[in-house]
Amino acid sequence: MTATTTKTLTVQEAIETRVSIRKFVQEPMDQNDLHEILRLATLAPTANNVQPTRFAVIQNKELQQKLQEVSYNQSQITSAPAVIVVYSDFEDVLENVEQNFPASMGEEQIQSRAAALRQQFGQQDVAQRGQWALSQANITFGFLMVAARGKGYDTVPMLGFQPEKVRELLGLPEHVQFAGLLPIGKRAEEGFPHHRHSIERVTKFY
Ligand SMILES: Cc1cc2nc3c(=O)[nH]c(=O)nc-3n(C[C@H](O)[C@H](O)[C@H](O)COP(=O)(O)O)c2cc1C
Repeated sequence: MTATTTKTLTVQEAIETRVSIRKFVQEPMDQNDLHEILRLATLAPTANNVQPTRFAVIQNKELQQKLQEVSYNQSQITSAPAVIVVYSDFEDVLENVEQNFPASMGEEQIQSRAAALRQQFGQQDVAQRGQWALSQANITFGFLMVAARGKGYDTVPMLGFQPEKVRELLGLPEHVQFAGLLPIGKRAEEGFPHHRHSIERVTKFY
């Protein structure tokens, strides 16, 4: 544990004060906070509750350096005490479908639901169902950013990296798809004020 006490923000405060941060205070992540942030992110909903999102947490400067090299040398990757790689792995889901259902459901129900899911997704190819799973992982990615900010941490979502190189670096199978990289830590800069479209610009009311 670090000495810093973390005040939990309201959802509104977390959303309003989240900005992308690319320079972080040089101190390790509090591991309890890290676990709690990940736990909160896993509460994100997924279709059929399939839970295809996976996390790879990197807190090793050498590996972060290598990750930075395959991310167009974006320095926030080594500035942050940790980087959370968020990806979907739907093949893992299909191989372990039974785990998606609570034991309280009973073995017969579990087997029948598992067979239905396998049948449904067995008709799609790996890329197709991988894309579907990625849309679930993207929701979790959003939850993760808000959860982090809620616990007093800062992040920057990133898609500027070479996915095939990141897969290779982390030893991940070819079928996994990335929601993004998320350097996380405490801010050592203010970030930019939000610049957003008005509600009228982006909304049609019917
Ligand atoms: C999916 C996604 C990918 C992004 N990729 C990068 C990136 O590779 N590098 C980077 O510096 N910022 C990246 N950003 C951060 C955006 O530039 C930033 O969110 C946007 O300018 C709005 O600023 P704010 O996050 O401070 O509100 C990304 C943001 C999102 C949502």
